[in-house]
Amino acid sequence: MTTIADEVAKRRTFAIISHPDAGKTTITEKVLLFGRAIQQAGTVKGKKSGQHAKSDWMEMEKERGISITTSVMQFPYAEKLVNLLDTPGHEDFSEDTYRTLTAVDSCLMVIDSAKGVEDRTIKLMDVARMRETPIITFMNKLDRDIRDPIELMDEVENILKISCAPITWPIGMGKEFKGVYHLLRDEVITYQSGMGHTIQDSRIIKGLDNPELDGVLGEYAEELREQVELLAAAANPFDLEEFLAGQLTPVYFGTALGNFGVDHMLDGLVDWAPAPQPRDAGDVTVDATSKDLAGFVFKIQANMDPNHRDRVAFMRIVSGKYEKGMKMRHVRIGKDVRISDALTFLAGDRSAVEEAYPGDIIGLHNHGTIQIGDTFTQGQELKFSGIPNFAPELFRRIRLKDPLKTKQLQKGLMQLSEEGAVQVFRPMKNNDLIVGAVGMLQFDVVAQRLKTEYKVEAVYEPISVATARWVESDDERKLAAFRDKAYDNLALDGSDNLTYIAPTMVNLQMAQERHPDMTFRKTREH
Ligand code: G4P
Repeated sequence: MTTIADEVAKRRTFAIISHPDAGKTTITEKVLLFGRAIQQAGTVKGKKSGQHAKSDWMEMEKERGISITTSVMQFPYAEKLVNLLDTPGHEDFSEDTYRTLTAVDSCLMVIDSAKGVEDRTIKLMDVARMRETPIITFMNKLDRDIRDPIELMDEVENILKISCAPITWPIGMGKEFKGVYHLLRDEVITYQSGMGHTIQDSRIIKGLDNPELDGVLGEYAEELREQVELLAAAANPFDLEEFLAGQLTPVYFGTALGNFGVDHMLDGLVDWAPAPQPRDAGDVTVDATSKDLAGFVFKIQANMDPNHRDRVAFMRIVSGKYEKGMKMRHVRIGKDVRISDALTFLAGDRSAVEEAYPGDIIGLHNHGTIQIGDTFTQGQELKFSGIPNFAPELFRRIRLKDPLKTKQLQKGLMQLSEEGAVQVFRPMKNNDLIVGAVGMLQFDVVAQRLKTEYKVEAVYEPISVATARWVESDDERKLAAFRDKAYDNLALDGSDNLTYIAPTMVNLQMAQERHPDMTFRKTREH
């Protein structure tokens, strides 16, 4: 019989962070191919081809009529069980994307090697860093003309403030991409173009001094030897402790489209990335191997289909074991509920899953009682911390079409903000209602849900707000003085927390300089 500790040791739960177009979807597809979760790559969404994402065609979703856009993919790899949590990269970017990063134990950062570090990656790295999440880096698109690999690593180190330790090193690029040298295994793995849809049978040449290399690589062999010598002197060696502390990232080179290098990265992931980690719940830390089930909700998937008002709450299991039909305590409302229809996400073998372990994600049907940050247990009075609200980046004033429905609008917005769908700010100086989001899609979801669930039709208007910060101070007197001085820029959020609403980033900077005793926070915990 397997123990919880065995199951924990087997699991790796990660998400991919990248800028749109860097290749996240393509890598996901190849990762699933290696996980044997799909037979042939090409089933995950192609933006132009209009094919559906794998998550969209999962039977389970068809049956239940729900569309889980940020899905969870579980698959076996090298005797481990990997959970890949998808973070929407494009127009559906939202606070959920950020919160998903609080539910993983490691991240894969994908970089377009022709472009280097781009802004979405910077933002997502900021979030990953809040919990010192270990990061693995994949430099993608080596089959194109890319930037100098040394320069790319320098950019990661300078902009993202994380040391790079190359694990593989590219040989050539673009049409002349020959493969990589694996620094730790001391072997050259050759690349064949046009084999992207399948698992390649690469030629492996052991040893840098191997004369076979000159035959296969030609002039690149000598160049490689020189580069490796240089790297030995100049590059950071891989250090597991620094990696686990989020201070150093192992770097892999390859092409997702050509399906080359993805398996090297996966090998690193299963070898080095941490198994499900313990998690703080106030004063106690809950270890993954504790026998009683505990988990927290990090995301609620609103359903855009008006025929199905049901929403799914995604719960990360922190400890214990989920079994179909078990009773769980919904801690915030103090109620015990029997869960017999949780969704589980074992790609390829959907029907068999009746249990889930730490590191796994289960989907709970939510009829409005579950909120982001909620804890479920087997009776323990726990409350997990660390599911934050993030300072929104997009703002709209919301107005009613029918002014008589103000009460419903306020009620709806408050509930939706408690649930984490959007954030609401009420300025002190007037009766405006400002809605803040991280991604545009959140506005659409909220308008739709206000209409169907609260029967109010609302419209958005532009408003000149650049950003918001939660303001705190231990000194009541100074806080009162600040409230007076900054009155015109202050608002209360959905939970009545004091918030500074800045029309411009410069204004925010000036306010921070003028009020050094106040703490301006970019995140606030649920
Ligand atoms: P994303 O999810 O991060 O947004 O990226 P996605 O995988 O959709 O990749 C963005 C584009 O980059 C796609 O091309 C994809 O085929 C291409 N791509 C991904 N990996 C590689 C690679 O290793 N080499 C090269 N040359 N291209 C790569 P597209 O034309 O925008 O879309 P599609 O019509 O091919 O789906």
